Amino acid sequence: MPGAIYAEGLVKTFGDVRALDGVDLDVPEGTVLGLLGPNGAGKTTTVRCLTTLLRPDSGKAVVAGVDVLRHPDAVRRSIGLSGQFAAVDEYLTGRENLQMVGRLYQMRAKAAKARAAELLEQFHLTDAADRPAKTYSGGMRRRLDLAAALVVSPPVMFMDEPTTGLDPRNRQQLWEVIKQLVSGGTTLLLTTQYLEEADHLAHDIAVVDHGRVIAQGTSDQLKARTGGERVEVVVQDRERMAAAVEVLRGFGKGETTVEEHTRRLTVPVTGGAKLLAEIIRELDTRGIGIDDIGLRRPTLDDVFLSLTGHAAESTDQDQPDAPHQQKERNGKEAVK
Ligand SMILES: Nc1ncnc2c1ncn2[C@@H]1O[C@H](COP(=O)(O)OP(=O)(O)OP(=O)(O)O)[C@@H](O)[C@H]1O
Ligand SMILES: [Mg+2]
Repeated sequence: MPGAIYAEGLVKTFGDVRALDGVDLDVPEGTVLGLLGPNGAGKTTTVRCLTTLLRPDSGKAVVAGVDVLRHPDAVRRSIGLSGQFAAVDEYLTGRENLQMVGRLYQMRAKAAKARAAELLEQFHLTDAADRPAKTYSGGMRRRLDLAAALVVSPPVMFMDEPTTGLDPRNRQQLWEVIKQLVSGGTTLLLTTQYLEEADHLAHDIAVVDHGRVIAQGTSDQLKARTGGERVEVVVQDRERMAAAVEVLRGFGKGETTVEEHTRRLTVPVTGGAKLLAEIIRELDTRGIGIDDIGLRRPTLDDVFLSLTGHAAESTDQDQPDAPHQQKERNGKEAVK
């Protein structure tokens, strides 16, 4: 039996852009799926197709046991959605926004009022509750939008980048709200650019790139697939970074990642502590000073980078791929 959210071969094109190129997903009831991918990968388009906001060109989708293409109205009654861009009525106050949503879902006035007050409290908006939403900061709007998605507790929730723009404290608090929600049996699909968030909240992670799911599994499974440990070196002198990259090339099992501003080099290795000692000796022989060196397990960031050729949260994601990234991407497709 398909899960609470199921998609098979979803395709959506916009003119020449193939935003979805055959997306398959299956999210068991009561679990969280984290959808990760670089900008433009097709995350929002997937969410919009599954929440009836967009009709896919082809493919199949079933949400809460209902066929999305055949019975969009029934699906809408079973889901909650918080979109990538907060959708609140600017001229209503926070409280009015939430009460309005309750009324739209046929709650009685008293119940809608009580629920609004509860959510305002939970999302730390009580002080601003009676100001028009247009006076809210970005993070406050975000929180109001999320609260609006939770007025009724639907069995299936979609959240598109729920914590983008929230400060760390509010992000942590939202994670707690999400955990409570899921422990109550809600199924959740969430997209995020924060790998830590996916690591923390998601039972399963699907990595999307170019409109396809290129890898799926638990965080640990994905990390294991990315291969062994990483050696991380912080080079003392920026001028010597190229020489250090050269040294690592001789020991590594893959490309070295260079983080210019922190002078940090990272390379996948097999061979553990013994290899680390050899690297230190070789760097020393060549007179390359280091501030720090260590061995660590792969992180979800490494997974993301090796699968998509993009670093998560990097600032140049909108740029066309550099040729080496393209090569890496193609090389990794065989992993699937
Ligand atoms: N309404 C639209 N018209 C034309 N192109 C679109 C439309 N919506 C999405 N696209 C294109 O489809 C592709 C996927 O977009 P989508 O918004 O799903 O990406 P995303 O993974 O959510 O990215 P981000 O991380 O930036 O939010 C992009 O190339 C985008 O430009
Ligand atoms: Mg998006």
